Amino acid sequence: MKHQDLLFTNEVAEALDKLITDAGHPLTFIIVDENTRRHVLPLLLDKSSTLSGAKIITVKPGDVNKNLTSLADIWTALQEGGANRKSLMINLGGGMVTDMGGFAASTFKRGIRFINIPTTLLSAVDAAVGGKTGINFNGLKNEIGVFNEADAVIISTCYLSTLPVEELHSGYAEMLKHGLIDNRDNYDRLLGYRIEDADPARLLDLLKESVMVKRRIVEEDPHEHGIRRALNLGHTIGHAFESLAMRRESPVPHGFAVAWGCVTELVLSHMKTGFPSAELQRFAAYIYENYGSFPITCEDYPELLELMHHDKKNVDSDINFTLLGGIGEIHIDCTASEDEIKTALDIFRDLTHQ
Ligand SMILES: NC(=O)c1ccc[n+]([C@@H]2O[C@H](COP(=O)([O-])OP(=O)(O)OC[C@H]3O[C@@H](n4cnc5c(N)ncnc54)[C@H](O)[C@@H]3O)[C@@H](O)[C@H]2O)c1
Ligand SMILES: [Zn+2]
Repeated sequence: MKHQDLLFTNEVAEALDKLITDAGHPLTFIIVDENTRRHVLPLLLDKSSTLSGAKIITVKPGDVNKNLTSLADIWTALQEGGANRKSLMINLGGGMVTDMGGFAASTFKRGIRFINIPTTLLSAVDAAVGGKTGINFNGLKNEIGVFNEADAVIISTCYLSTLPVEELHSGYAEMLKHGLIDNRDNYDRLLGYRIEDADPARLLDLLKESVMVKRRIVEEDPHEHGIRRALNLGHTIGHAFESLAMRRESPVPHGFAVAWGCVTELVLSHMKTGFPSAELQRFAAYIYENYGSFPITCEDYPELLELMHHDKKNVDSDINFTLLGGIGEIHIDCTASEDEIKTALDIFRDLTHQ
């Protein structure tokens, strides 16, 4: 695995100029989606001294466009733009752009260098770091892809002011998840910060601490054979909520589903691995206050369980979870029965006032 350079700075253009200069001014391609082209690209171009010859490749925004058609468009633009093995790609966008741009760079001529500049909180704290790249295929999320780390990731908070506040909360949920699996100090700091008051410098400090949690875990287990599964906390049930919302045609942001998934999986942690009740109450109250609730009744349970069984990490009848014994006490490869999960869902509904 190459050692990914993580740079934490709000002087993004300066950091990028240095990387491009050190790389000998390669032919550079910048991938943006229509939104980051409008909101972020001008800010970067305005301050950079090395991007005047860069070629811009624009894709349609949103996870629905993280697909083979957009990928082929990127490959074509690289070809037509004369990209060679020495070229450099810059992915300027949220997780959709960093996932697909990273995959396009990893496969074009067997791999060209790429730099991620995440522009959403979710991509800064999660998607842009850790080497998972890919696209959705035949209706399945992230079905085709490779593990390949960016040569560098420039992490900042200076582009977040144009992001809808809901997207900020969505990314913050992944930071809370990192706090839960890390330690009490980190977790307490996160619970004491209000994302609405986003002060870029303070948020950058918190973001750095949070990204380092992911980095430590990924370095230990880059291909997810063991401890990397700690990062799945909240995601087994969270993905089921997300898919159910999609089927209801009222989608919820990924991080909201993860926040509610964390509450439910902490209930399971309380039942199975001794997660303290007072801590569960505190977390649930915070989530309810900031994320509201996901409306479900017991009639939704069979569908939610079916969705959890479909999760690729579950091989037989019991469902696989990462649970906690307390803040920072990780138990991977736990299982829970359908009855235990139903009980946890009942308690989730109580805790979120349904
Ligand atoms: N590789 C990984 O480890 C990993 C981890 C988590 C999520 N993901 C993937 O990441 C994607 C979700 O990431 P996301 O939440 O960043 O979504 P996204 O990239 O779709 O961005 C969300 C929306 O915000 C817009 N946007 C981005 N930056 C903006 C800015 N600064 N100002 C205004 N608008 C802006 C985008 O155009 C888009 O409409 C999914 O495809 C998911 O599968 C990957
Ligand atoms: Zn997630």
